[in-house]
Amino acid sequence: MTNEFLLSVESVDTFIGQFHILENVSVNVAKGSITVLLGRNGAGKTTTLKTVIGLTPPRSGRVIFDGEEIQGKRAFNIANLGIGYVPENRAIFRALTVLENLKLAERKKGDLDRHADMIFELFPDLERLSKLKGNQLSGGQQQMLAVARALVPDNKLLLIDEPSEGLAPILIQQMMEVIRKLKEKTTILLVEQNFIMASQLAERYVIIDDGRSVHRGLMSDLVLNEELIHQYLGASIQAPTRTSEAE
Ligand SMILES: Nc1ncnc2c1ncn2[C@@H]1O[C@H](COP(=O)(O)OP(=O)(O)O)[C@@H](O)[C@H]1O
Ligand SMILES: [Mg+2]
Repeated sequence: MTNEFLLSVESVDTFIGQFHILENVSVNVAKGSITVLLGRNGAGKTTTLKTVIGLTPPRSGRVIFDGEEIQGKRAFNIANLGIGYVPENRAIFRALTVLENLKLAERKKGDLDRHADMIFELFPDLERLSKLKGNQLSGGQQQMLAVARALVPDNKLLLIDEPSEGLAPILIQQMMEVIRKLKEKTTILLVEQNFIMASQLAERYVIIDDGRSVHRGLMSDLVLNEELIHQYLGASIQAPTRTSEAE
């Protein structure tokens, strides 16, 4: 069963301090696909990503990546297995240039040289702005840099937390295009509150509610299920209107 999944989160319970944040959360991510975690603010989406990468390790349950149990490992070692994490707060180095930020994301010597063409093709702005410091970038450019950093080392899986958050509509479109292109190269577990974006990118969804994974399935089914969308996603998302733009 697990072989078809690059990542399996199996019945994890995660505590932060004495707080029981995740309870019996399970998420599977098929290789070469995008799975999106949906749910209200505070539901536990970010904690689920942090549980995978080892920043908030689970107290029980298993996390299996590429056939290997990783739930007991340290975050640094988990990342080294080939998982890129783009945190919600972007976490770029504001005093360093774009190029320095990218260079620091190397896991092996030469990572950036090997991937620079691919990265700058996806993010032409970053090449143009490569000498600017992090704090000279707009919010959108910082977000692009945060995603670009995860592409510097060889990663098999990307965990991307709310890439569209705080972005202007035009930049949301750009980010969508980037993630769409990334799908051809890698596997993604995405957290995305923008339902339009989530529904157009992801094949599968898992709804997290109050620290539990309560629903999962094909995105093509969810977009038709207004009741489920309303019940668990409520006012935190835009209605899933159909766009007339051809894909
Ligand atoms: N460091 C922390 N200490 C205590 N509670 C936390 C901490 N981080 C997150 N939480 C709580 O865990 C729950 C899930 O948070 P989070 O995973 O960030 O939700 P989401 O990403 O879905 O908005 C929330 O109720 C939040 O208040
Ligand atoms: Mg979050």
